[in-house]
Amino acid sequence: MNPILVRPADMVRITTPALAEKYIESQISVLREQIGDKKVLLALSGGVDSSVVAALLIKAVGRQLVCVHVNHGLLRKGEPEQVIKVFRDEMNADLIYVDATDRFLDKLAGVTDPEQKRKIIGGEFIEVFAEEARKLDGIEFLAQGTIWPDILESEAGIKAHHNTGGLPEDMKFELVEPVRILFKDEVRIVGKALGLPDNMVFRQPFPGPGLGVRCPGAITRDRLEAVRESDAILREEFEKNGLEGKVWQYFTVVPDFKSTGIKNGKRTFDWPCIIRAINTTDVMEVTVEHLSDALIDHLVKRITTEVPGINRVLFDYTPKPPATVEYE
Ligand code: XMP
Repeated sequence: MNPILVRPADMVRITTPALAEKYIESQISVLREQIGDKKVLLALSGGVDSSVVAALLIKAVGRQLVCVHVNHGLLRKGEPEQVIKVFRDEMNADLIYVDATDRFLDKLAGVTDPEQKRKIIGGEFIEVFAEEARKLDGIEFLAQGTIWPDILESEAGIKAHHNTGGLPEDMKFELVEPVRILFKDEVRIVGKALGLPDNMVFRQPFPGPGLGVRCPGAITRDRLEAVRESDAILREEFEKNGLEGKVWQYFTVVPDFKSTGIKNGKRTFDWPCIIRAINTTDVMEVTVEHLSDALIDHLVKRITTEVPGINRVLFDYTPKPPATVEYE
């Protein structure tokens, strides 16, 4: 049986656990048929799409799936640990974890141009992944978390769809795309039915270059750490205050300038931390989520006392346009 490559016009939108189960059952037989006793490789970022692909493939072919999780050092606090816990420990996946933090941060040292930063992160990611793939024997398939909007956008010429994963020309694999005909909301419902945790399935969008675009200018380890720690505090407070899942995207940025402050009677000269919280439906236009004064006060207190290097907290009130969501 060939996998379905085009979403059938009469396909019922997956909106319930029962419909998700039906989809999962049908995909399991399609995947088993396509893969047989061969091996499949997957770059598992921990994002919704690749996580659901991994969970589906584990259910269908178990340890014939080899997942590679590349930590580029620009992930949020706790993310690599969660990928290992959920997939290796709980789902018994064959997971290769590569901590490539030093490699990425060394290459990025002193690089200030946003586009060059993105190119380095994207290029290095493919190189690390290809290196791991070359070490493996008998891989015939490459799994990808392509979803239906990716196909529609590439057909409309909005976004190029990298259907080879951007791997070098000599690395040829047959593609396995088990969520290709699904919309994002359907992927989430399927992920939940597969038993993935809510904070993985319903998580906010996170850019491929990760915290790298939230540490504007040349990335340094200490400022990157300030972004990671402040982001973790913001996420924790949004969860505690019932805003998780309600606000579309929220994060912190630590720009590369310092200002004078005072702590314990002594002068400080530290970075500001900017909070950004936005809502949107299509990311072409976004509005700002206004937080309560009490929450802002609490965030200012926590971030300035708990995050080394921060002596000031700012809130970004700018919609898109004129500002983009990310700072780079
Ligand atoms: P902008 O900054 O363009 O962001 O207004 C719109 C949405 O896209 C996300 N974003 C990215 N996602 N790779 C991604 O996978 C990227 O390079 C990237 N840049 C921005 C951003 O987080 C926001 O949700």
